[in-house]
Amino acid sequence: MSNEAIITPELELSDGLNLEDGMNAERLEFGTFEATVEKSRLLEKSLAETPENYRVLTGDRPTGRLHIGHLFGSLQNRVRLQNLGVRTFIVIADYQVLTDRDTYENIAENVKNLTIDYMAAGLVPEIGKTCIFPHSHVPELNQLLLPFLTLVTNAELDRNPTVKEEIQASGQKRINAGMYTYPIHQAADILFCKANVVPVGKDQLPHLEMTRLVARRFNDRFAGSKAVFPEPQPLLSKAPVILGLDGSQKMSKSRNNTIMLCATEDETAALIKKAKTDSDRHISYDPVNRPEVANLLMLIALSTGSTPEAVAEQIGDGGSGTLKKMLTECLNEYLRPIRARRKEFEADGELVRTVLKNGIREAREVAEQTLDEVRHVMNMDV
Ligand code: TRP
Repeated sequence: MSNEAIITPELELSDGLNLEDGMNAERLEFGTFEATVEKSRLLEKSLAETPENYRVLTGDRPTGRLHIGHLFGSLQNRVRLQNLGVRTFIVIADYQVLTDRDTYENIAENVKNLTIDYMAAGLVPEIGKTCIFPHSHVPELNQLLLPFLTLVTNAELDRNPTVKEEIQASGQKRINAGMYTYPIHQAADILFCKANVVPVGKDQLPHLEMTRLVARRFNDRFAGSKAVFPEPQPLLSKAPVILGLDGSQKMSKSRNNTIMLCATEDETAALIKKAKTDSDRHISYDPVNRPEVANLLMLIALSTGSTPEAVAEQIGDGGSGTLKKMLTECLNEYLRPIRARRKEFEADGELVRTVLKNGIREAREVAEQTLDEVRHVMNMDV
């Protein structure tokens, strides 16, 4: 088999990341965001019609408990897909935590809380339905990583805009190779179970593009016409990016602008009270010119199944006081059953361990089958 398929014109050696270059995720090889939104719509339709044709993988780093940005940005989507009957795998990306921070003391606690948040949000860990597992207990994933690393160039790793953003955000002076290569680890996470749908937020799209590239090159190089791996498609939720309550670009715990799923109703009210808005008393949905107000309207819409435009109309000249009051009520109501389940699961000392043990077993079985196939096409049978 010729090597032409995998050698790209950018095969020059790179001497490190250029932080200014390629910060814009909209650029060339990553496609336009609008096109991805449109494709997501079509995919959504097909998922509802033939859920049995799809397999979902997605995941999170265990860096803390989940907040409403996670809930509306991706968790809701996952639960809906699961309930449509799409087999779902969720990786808790514990190794990935080591790429952008020095602390690892809280990983076990975070894995536990994450698992509880998942279940509270409605994911049901049952064999053949939803499989939740931590990366570090599925060594087969790392076996896939090595051949995958040979399919991409340093220059391609250099260009990943999300990696650059994360390096900047973490303030690292020296970049470890784990950080640099983690989109390929992620490709192994996704492809081990031959997932063909990955519900993600906008920031993860460049990684998914990498995964598609790895799948394509693996198939071209080793599998001839018979595809071993699918090229997974991203699925964006209705609200791919939830802004922080301070109006900054992203809701995240490190920016201290979130509402945690486990927050109490009073804490939630206090956080919303402090949220940034503007001085125009007439409430309108205008994400470009009034991003903070638009974000709060979107959160109401997501909590109630309405649209942000309809909510804006309802509030009219009520000003940001009415907007915040409404959000507090709607959000607390929406989160009430989730928070109640959270408490219940937390009280069960053995539950998380059992869920993860079963998840690990299932993930390893699936991964072993894929690895057998991978070794076979790479001429590595014994
Ligand atoms: N990189 C993701 C994050 O930062 C976590 C993750 C790891 C993931 N593996 C994945 C997401 C596979 C989707 C698919 O949160």
